[in-house]
Amino acid sequence: MAQFFAVKSIYKNFGKLAALSDISFSVNQGELVGLIGPNGAGKTTLFNVITGFYRATSGQVLFKDKDVSQARPNELAEMGMVRTFQIPRPFKELTVQDNVAVGTLFNPERMHKTHLSPEEFVGKILEGVKLSPYKDQLAGNLGYGNLKLLEVGRAQGPLPELLLLDEPFAGLSLNEIESISEILRGLTAKGLTLVIVEHKLRELMKLVKRVIVLHYGKKIADGNPEEISRDEQVLKAYLGRRWSKPNA
Ligand SMILES: Nc1ncnc2c1ncn2[C@@H]1O[C@H](COP(=O)(O)OP(=O)(O)O)[C@@H](O)[C@H]1O
Ligand SMILES: [Mg+2]
Repeated sequence: MAQFFAVKSIYKNFGKLAALSDISFSVNQGELVGLIGPNGAGKTTLFNVITGFYRATSGQVLFKDKDVSQARPNELAEMGMVRTFQIPRPFKELTVQDNVAVGTLFNPERMHKTHLSPEEFVGKILEGVKLSPYKDQLAGNLGYGNLKLLEVGRAQGPLPELLLLDEPFAGLSLNEIESISEILRGLTAKGLTLVIVEHKLRELMKLVKRVIVLHYGKKIADGNPEEISRDEQVLKAYLGRRWSKPNA
């Protein structure tokens, strides 16, 4: 595969507002990438464009050598690109295991190739996100921390190759962040590619190997956490905002 995932010169305008201007980068299979930037920088808009919730004003999204700029979210999920939402969106009236099972419907062939029964497949995912004890509970009865874990579990139902996570740490305690980071590390160890939008920079920097920085809709930096934490433009963009250095 020549090109696993790339965005090429993405523009997104909302009326006169240029929410994204000329955003380009590529991600190799197996990478663990952070996407950061002050509020309003365009992170969520970029996720929405990549995952087919918005159409770009211009530019391309490439996934596994295909131009998927016009693809819908469900088509992308079938191809192996899945996102999570900052605010968990479970089916509250379904059990925890059925929430994960719903995702498998997007990709029956790929699940079939795992040689696991649907129950075994879902069971493994629940084990991975530490929700096995809650499998028969209604998602609506889960506490917030477990809902964030379920969001990661649900995203694995379609057996994605590229997973885009919108603020997986939001609202979690440091212990919970450590635990979810460990789960995400485990996923990349199995070959999954992760792009993570996150405001908790210190915790994010401990997890990712590469960070892309947006500011006012433009890409201002792309490098490893060490480089990013010293980058003049990045520091300026965050001036007056809370910035925590990695390993500080
Ligand atoms: N649906 C929309 N309609 C109009 N403006 C929007 C819409 N979504 C986002 N914006 C604007 O685009 C800019 C980027 O927003 P967003 O992508 O949510 O930033 P971030 O996620 O980095 O905080 C902001 O100025 C925001 O107000
Ligand atoms: Mg956002």
